[in-house]
Amino acid sequence: MRRLLRRRPALGMALLSGVSTAVGIVIVLAIDWFPAQASTAAPQIDTLWDVLMIASVPVFVLVMSVALYSVFAFRAQPGDLSDGEPIHGNTRLEVIWVTIPFIMVSALAVYGWIVLDDIEAKQTDPLIVNVTGQQFAWRFDYPDEGEVKSTQLVLPKDRDVEFRVNTDDVLHDFWVPEFRLKTDAVPGLTTKIRLKPSRIGEYDVVCAELCGIGHSTMRSGVRVVTPEDFDAWIAEEQQSETDGGAAAAGGDEAAAGKQLFTETGCNACHTLADAESASAIGPGLDELAADAEKYGEQNEQSPEEYVKTAIEDPDAFLVPDFNAGVMPPDYAEQLSPEELDTLVKYLLSVSGQEKP
Ligand code: CUA
Repeated sequence: MRRLLRRRPALGMALLSGVSTAVGIVIVLAIDWFPAQASTAAPQIDTLWDVLMIASVPVFVLVMSVALYSVFAFRAQPGDLSDGEPIHGNTRLEVIWVTIPFIMVSALAVYGWIVLDDIEAKQTDPLIVNVTGQQFAWRFDYPDEGEVKSTQLVLPKDRDVEFRVNTDDVLHDFWVPEFRLKTDAVPGLTTKIRLKPSRIGEYDVVCAELCGIGHSTMRSGVRVVTPEDFDAWIAEEQQSETDGGAAAAGGDEAAAGKQLFTETGCNACHTLADAESASAIGPGLDELAADAEKYGEQNEQSPEEYVKTAIEDPDAFLVPDFNAGVMPPDYAEQLSPEELDTLVKYLLSVSGQEKP
């Protein structure tokens, strides 16, 4: 067998490549690479992926077969210390191995462009959703639905959506694996993706760009619901926004404070039982009243002053075991003085509560 293969190396390689390619293609197609398809772009992208895989397997197999086959068939005999025969190139082979990859890559590029062009096509009357990334949370608002703001993304099924993605600080990347599309959130730019949710369900919004210490926790949810449920949700959110404003004006400061805490994204980094947040990137706030007393005293501040300073100028005083430069320093600009006040009062009033 070995002598035959040595005499007819091309035959041996072709045989090995053919079998391995068939096995390889069966394996890559059997692997479940992606989660559920929840947007109309998903089937197109998955097909593109399969085609890419089918095209890649023969190339990989061919290269590996030639390498492995050569190691096996052209191994030096024991005691053979002579040099190999000199090789002066082979024009026919070179033309083939330039032309075939050129055709393959060009065809894949054209196919990829056609799919991309189709996915990015302009829609008529899309639902606009502004997406804002911030260390380490996502915020969503619906400018055409009465300025509804939310930390949960809710979308109606079968309606075109245009996401306009921004960031408050560093690079993030807005990604819902089930929708297949993602885009960077770039400081100073608005990036867009258009898609149409096609499957009712709850999925994750993931940050796909390393953005700091809390990157891996920068997740949020997306709910795809029926158009009726979406309208009901919008109405409910509009109502609660009015209620929140009225609550702040009318005295229910705790509700307004809790809303500020989640809307501003504090919950992404701080544990607070009352707001059902449990992240440990920043200091926990369940003992804040006692801590503010203790640390405030060290800095000759009242507890209120201490908490206010900690929000406005986070690096002014560092709680032991926590580092400078982690908490965004721009909350004084994001929040009005009244909101800041509400938040400080809320935090001091709810800390010390029983953990749920
Ligand atoms: Cu934001 Cu990673």
